[in-house]
Amino acid sequence: MNTFFRSTFKSLFIALLLSLPVSTLLAGEGMWIPLLLSALNESEMKAMGMKMSADDIYNVNKGSLKDAIVHFSGFCTGEVISNQGLLLTNHHCGYGTIQSHSTLENNYLKDGFWAKSKAEEIPSPGLYAKFIVRIEDVTDKVFDGVRDKMTTTEIDSIQKVNIRSLQSEIETTAYQDTEIRSFFEGNQYFLFVTETYTDIRYVGSPPESIGKFGSDTDNWVWPRHTGDFALFRIYAGPDNKPAPYAEENIPYTPKHFLPVSLDGIEEGDFTLVFGFPGTTQQYLPSFAVQQIVDIIDPARIAVRDISLDIMKRYMVADEAIKLAYSSKYATISNYWKKWIGEIQGLKKANAVRMKEKQEEEFTALISKNKKLKAKYENLLPELKVLYRDLDIVAKNRTILGEVLGGRNTEVFRLASYADRLYRAYSQHGAEGQPYLETKDATKERLEGFFKDYSAEVDAELFSAMMVHLVNHLDSEYLPDGIPKARDEHTLHQWASALFEQSSLSDKDSFLQAIEKGGDAYAEWIQSDSLYQLYLSLRGVYNDKLAVYNRALYEKIDPLQTAYVTALMEAYPDRRFWPDANGTLRVSYGLVEPFSPKDGLMYKTQTYLDGVMEKYIPGDYEFDVHPKLIELYENGDFGPYGEDGKMPVCFIASNHSTGGNSGSPAIDASGNLIGLNFDRVWEGTMSDLYYDRSICRNIMVDARYILFVIDKFGGAGNLIEEMKLVHPKS
Ligand code: ARG
Ligand code: ASP
Repeated sequence: MNTFFRSTFKSLFIALLLSLPVSTLLAGEGMWIPLLLSALNESEMKAMGMKMSADDIYNVNKGSLKDAIVHFSGFCTGEVISNQGLLLTNHHCGYGTIQSHSTLENNYLKDGFWAKSKAEEIPSPGLYAKFIVRIEDVTDKVFDGVRDKMTTTEIDSIQKVNIRSLQSEIETTAYQDTEIRSFFEGNQYFLFVTETYTDIRYVGSPPESIGKFGSDTDNWVWPRHTGDFALFRIYAGPDNKPAPYAEENIPYTPKHFLPVSLDGIEEGDFTLVFGFPGTTQQYLPSFAVQQIVDIIDPARIAVRDISLDIMKRYMVADEAIKLAYSSKYATISNYWKKWIGEIQGLKKANAVRMKEKQEEEFTALISKNKKLKAKYENLLPELKVLYRDLDIVAKNRTILGEVLGGRNTEVFRLASYADRLYRAYSQHGAEGQPYLETKDATKERLEGFFKDYSAEVDAELFSAMMVHLVNHLDSEYLPDGIPKARDEHTLHQWASALFEQSSLSDKDSFLQAIEKGGDAYAEWIQSDSLYQLYLSLRGVYNDKLAVYNRALYEKIDPLQTAYVTALMEAYPDRRFWPDANGTLRVSYGLVEPFSPKDGLMYKTQTYLDGVMEKYIPGDYEFDVHPKLIELYENGDFGPYGEDGKMPVCFIASNHSTGGNSGSPAIDASGNLIGLNFDRVWEGTMSDLYYDRSICRNIMVDARYILFVIDKFGGAGNLIEEMKLVHPKS
């Protein structure tokens, strides 16, 4: 980007703030920056029914909603729901932690867990809760010294220096951190001051049959009946500030916590989702979306089809393998299913054609304006050529990336651990500090890894992946050593023998080799043919595919930046939102039904009756706990039911994405009404193209959460510390 784009951007942005229509009722689309709500969104939000002000949501001088929201361990969102630091997030966000505390005898995944007192809460190292203290627009400072006609590299290096000096100037206390992040593809920069608490303890969660009810079959699907929640607690030092774990740490007193509404939702209600959405790519041009639909998504899906099939077969047959593989399986299947939905949604919404039309309109518009034409005429045509060049390697890169990533066959993950240690040794020698550190780290990693590993499953995965590579990679990307024969039997035999000979998947041999260390380790790893195969495949990936890709992206990135600037210049009256980038955002919408296909209408709320409709006794995904059946049959819903029924989940048109899991759904007055955990399958393409007619987020109804904690879990102690409210009456 150059200053030319930049200065225009700044004035445009200001013009935009001033000229915003009072109520456009766009709703739904957008993940907005909390700092800018009063300028960009407040009037629309109020028109949609919000009773709060932008100030109640984000304020640095007094407690506001933002003080109840945390980035949960970097991958999810959580919210504080009591004045004792009780933290609510999704079951699937706490899954790895819950699993790590579980054994076959004490299986919290299977049976659930409720701490009946603070002494029973389980320390969970590795988790953290990051609060946003304040946000500041630092665009001018980051662009200080950037001049017209500078090259991208020159601009980058000036900005790096500016960012570094900005960070050192910002006044923070010892327990605070700062982050400076780019928005609108580098058109704008914001600074975040954060506070991170690391003493997080596991407080409770329902059994999987509630917290993950419907599992992978129902994942991304509406109607949904999952109680996808878990509870943690933030602990602080005696001064209420972040402190490393210590038994005597105290429950954190928040600046603000969310009251929980007992009044539920109705169609048309205003809802707000507040959290840390990870990534969206709304400014991709039509041909980039086409590449995702035609090449990238199908290639990823095909690899995962294979690994999921194999894992599932073993998991269904063996309880220990189920426990070991459940988290890994869920991770692979989650995006596998999302991509399938994404393709379908993009096709249904005719997204590529719609984007083409927008591009045609843009091109026509700029061609009427001399200045814009001069600057941007070649932008889209150039991008198109570059994306066509990417097409050439997209399939091979995607397939090989998936296979080498260490998820679809884990022996490649082992190979990468081994390789890191080997390189530390060959570069720094047996006495070198990096080698000694890597040695310890690898031993620790292997302990964790082998706890959840079956070489039998992995041997089959490896073999299947090799067959897939031979059948689907273009032959120039198949390294020597892999038989080129497409005869599956021969390939399987070759792959099984290779796996069998390798000692990577054998914990004892691996650890012994590390223990011997030095040259003995080097000899051990160098003589492993599976490791050698890993190196050749990785060599192909790096030297032939990644290099090519990177070179193209060096040209694409600045053009994408310019494209965003160009759109803003071409449409000065339009309101733009920056793509999700893992920073704190607000989305808002309405509780509204939708039609996934002709003749079918999806209602907004599900009930416990639906759990019973889906109930399959003893089933892997749809079993129901006897206690829940009993509560259902007796209609024993306490104060949480609604007209004799127990609400479970609901949908609304809040724009959300990965990372928004665990985000609170907040009502018009700032109370918790639900817990965001998913989107409807038909609308998962909202990461690339939002269409309000089919995009919905899915939330657990807050009343179901309370019901499960209280009536099912018997953890009244937790209900007592919350603030339950009746905002509607
Ligand atoms: N689809 C939701 C999200 O992307 C939930 C995933 C967890 N559940 C599962 N069955 N994998 O995170
Ligand atoms: N389930 C997602 C998450 O974990 C949310 C989404 O993609 O809608 O963040």
